[in-house]
Amino acid sequence: MKKYKWGILTAGKMSAKFVRALKLLHNAELYAVGARDISRAKLFAGEHGIKKYYGSYEELAADTDVDIIYIASPHASHFEHTMLCLKNRKAVLCEKAFALDTAEAAAMIEEAHRQNVFLMDALWPPFQPVYRQTKDLLLKGEIGRLIHIDARFGFQAPYDAADRKFNLMLGGGSLLDIGIYPVNDILYFMGTPDSVTAKATFAGSGAEHSINIIFGFNSGQTASVFSSFRVSAGIECTLYGENGNLVFSRGRDMSQRLTLAVNGKKPEEHSFIPEGMGYHYEAAEVMRCLDEGKTESPAVPHSYSLALMNILDRVRSEAGIVFPKQRPS
Ligand SMILES: NC(=O)c1ccc[n+]([C@@H]2O[C@H](COP(=O)([O-])OP(=O)(O)OC[C@H]3O[C@@H](n4cnc5c(N)ncnc54)[C@H](OP(=O)(O)O)[C@@H]3O)[C@@H](O)[C@H]2O)c1
Repeated sequence: MKKYKWGILTAGKMSAKFVRALKLLHNAELYAVGARDISRAKLFAGEHGIKKYYGSYEELAADTDVDIIYIASPHASHFEHTMLCLKNRKAVLCEKAFALDTAEAAAMIEEAHRQNVFLMDALWPPFQPVYRQTKDLLLKGEIGRLIHIDARFGFQAPYDAADRKFNLMLGGGSLLDIGIYPVNDILYFMGTPDSVTAKATFAGSGAEHSINIIFGFNSGQTASVFSSFRVSAGIECTLYGENGNLVFSRGRDMSQRLTLAVNGKKPEEHSFIPEGMGYHYEAAEVMRCLDEGKTESPAVPHSYSLALMNILDRVRSEAGIVFPKQRPS
């Protein structure tokens, strides 16, 4: 079995969670970390038992021994950092939101094709047991025809205009950070909506801190999404079918619960507590694809990332959310 050398781009909070999950995989070697500041990189390397550390992302990308780079920088930097790694012919797993908009995502995918290098959006849900089981139950017709989905993700984040969550220059706002999950629920279970209406409220920094979205489908199906840094709305999705409902939720520790409530029957409960907060699934998928010589994952194909970014673009356009760093398309 080939062992892949991973490089970690940033020494931030998500990078720390990801490297803990990477340690569960026998074919992954935690090889190097790059941060903007060498002292942070050194500290992170020491804490996680990583051999090499660099004080710039450029040096990490240029290390010829690195096979795969995991990118966990702020949203507005995903384009720049992905392009840097692809141009150095590294396989890339880039955190959500994959890019600021569809134009950036399309350019990243085009570069991956040009370099003939693997690129994947680090979308957590498609690999999780709760999503897979929900999809199976839906396809088996357990709740009959799907009529409506109601999905939300909200927690109270202390307001700090400089934090990436509230800083528009960094791609801040609840939509790309957490709203992307309920929006993904709609795409994953119902497909691309035909109509979008959205209303956002904004923090002092100009970043949106709550957003309410209604999706419509020509089929007559509907969906509603809410995300917020202002209220503790939890992380839950309800799929309403003609014969019953499916409700799944997760904790901030990524533990997952699913309830199947078929009309007239006792509800069935399932719970899942994946190791490594479930982040090892996506890392394993990258290495499985590389073993098979693939440049994209069938689990999160480039077309899926583009479809998701496109819905987010439509929502932002409806809600008046504009990022100063967006490139003209
Ligand atoms: N999949 C998931 O479940 C999940 C969960 C949480 C976050 N995420 C995603 O992971 C990514 C990082 O999130 P995080 O919570 O780890 O963020 P974070 O800790 O606030 O920041 C991550 C890194 O970004 C760089 N950074 C921070 N502020 C910056 C600034 N003002 N200007 C330039 N660079 C800055 C720093 O890199 P250096 O270390 O190099 O200084 C920092 O370590 C985001 O895309 C987020 O959406 C995913």
